[in-house]
Amino acid sequence: MRAKTTRFLTIRRAYTVIKGVSPPKKGGNIMQTVPFLALQRHFSRLGPDIALWLRDQYGSRTQVNVPLLGRAVYLFAPDDLHDMLVRRHDQFIKPRLLNRLTTASFGQGLFTSDGEAWRKRRKLMQPHFHHVHIRRYADRMVAHAAKMSDSWHNGETRPLDADMHALTFRILLDTLFSSDADAHQTDHIADAMHDLGAGLTAATRNPLYAALPTWFPLPALRRRRRGEQALTRLVGEAISQRRAMGEDSAPHDVLSLLVFSRDEETGALLDDRAIHDELVTLYIAGHETTALTLGWAFVALAQQPHAEAALHAELDSVLGGALPTAESLAQLPYTQAVIKEVLRLYPPAWFIAREPVADVMLDGGDVLPKGALVLGVSYGTHRDPTHYPDPLAFRPERWLGDLEKSLPKGAYLPFGLGPRTCIGNGFALMESQLTLATLAQRWRLSLVDTPRHAVGTLTLAFGAPVRVRVGRR
Ligand code: HEM
Repeated sequence: MRAKTTRFLTIRRAYTVIKGVSPPKKGGNIMQTVPFLALQRHFSRLGPDIALWLRDQYGSRTQVNVPLLGRAVYLFAPDDLHDMLVRRHDQFIKPRLLNRLTTASFGQGLFTSDGEAWRKRRKLMQPHFHHVHIRRYADRMVAHAAKMSDSWHNGETRPLDADMHALTFRILLDTLFSSDADAHQTDHIADAMHDLGAGLTAATRNPLYAALPTWFPLPALRRRRRGEQALTRLVGEAISQRRAMGEDSAPHDVLSLLVFSRDEETGALLDDRAIHDELVTLYIAGHETTALTLGWAFVALAQQPHAEAALHAELDSVLGGALPTAESLAQLPYTQAVIKEVLRLYPPAWFIAREPVADVMLDGGDVLPKGALVLGVSYGTHRDPTHYPDPLAFRPERWLGDLEKSLPKGAYLPFGLGPRTCIGNGFALMESQLTLATLAQRWRLSLVDTPRHAVGTLTLAFGAPVRVRVGRR
């Protein structure tokens, strides 16, 4: 029954409201073009679901012509996604159009940079995210989740989204930046990030915002600027404090890596701007996505009693009341399957964007035009019945067999693929499994509000705050 409701919310709504855009004659692999103005109203209402509609009506490659901004191409087929991100990755850059929106906030960090600048920075930071290295964060991740669990009271109503953001933010500050920031400082950073995020969301809700200069006096842009300024000040303080400590007595974390590392060729230290940009990138990329993974996990579990019961049974029998550790993860296959299924059905980064540096011809003869905004829509690929039977149903069991091995390349990509794949992949998986295990071991969460996802955001965020009632198990 619940699965039917989800199906209705996602697909039916998209089908019924888009009137006046007539489906074209389909012609095999041939890319179809849709005028943006016919869809604009629906973009801001449907968000990711409009991608499903485009896929079903126009096929797995759809081009939308957007006035002032140019062409956007939606790709859904695993082969095309694999081509863009892996096989022919060197024919694409991060899209300048989206960078215009995000650069003001993230700067030129790992996420937005390209070419040699990106390669050097990735090489510098990659070892820190190696799985052997990040395993030592496991106990701190669990300790933060246990602290949150201890602070909940039986029967109380909690803001799910805000709690999960606070949890993943504290974990990030503690593990990557060894920050012992007190609650007051953490709140400051969180407020600045919130302003920045809200401004960015409002700006992305209407793609035409991207054409406006960043100083334009719109409330959304003003709010984004306020967040940026506050964050720049806070990050600047963190950098100065770390420098003052000196390399020998500073903790071995990502902040020290950035502050004390020297360029492999010139021997120069990174300047403040570069360090700032990497820190803000990690703040944003490193906690929002994991918070959403946990948030959607609790929503899905509250809606699917069979999955919730199977998870609780596994946690009780394997952990027997003890807190999980990095070692227990291998014995918690169902917990792992819950996270994999959440990342399939609700991928926090619901599309991956690129821009071709020259015309790129896809198999079958379609051309991705130079300069177009190309969106690989993992949200649509993950909901394709060809690869996932009954795709809208939340069924962690599907991951317990060898589904993953049998999937075509490019059919499951919550962390992207190829050289730009998420640097925090291992960190995020360990964090979400350990924190889910710690919280679900003691609590059952039931929904007070009906969740829906936000529209027009870069992540698959919640459309409105979701409250949950926490009941001790
Ligand atoms: C469930 C959680 C997460 C999801 C779903 C996720 C998703 C992604 C995706 C899809 C990309 C590739 C974007 C592209 O190709 O354009 C990416 C890149 C990135 N992610 Fe994550 N991420 C998560 C957690 C994290 C964490 C915990 C960190 C850091 C601690 C992080 C840091 C980054 C960075 C720095 C990049 C850019 C990498 C590069 O271009 O070299 N992410 N992430």
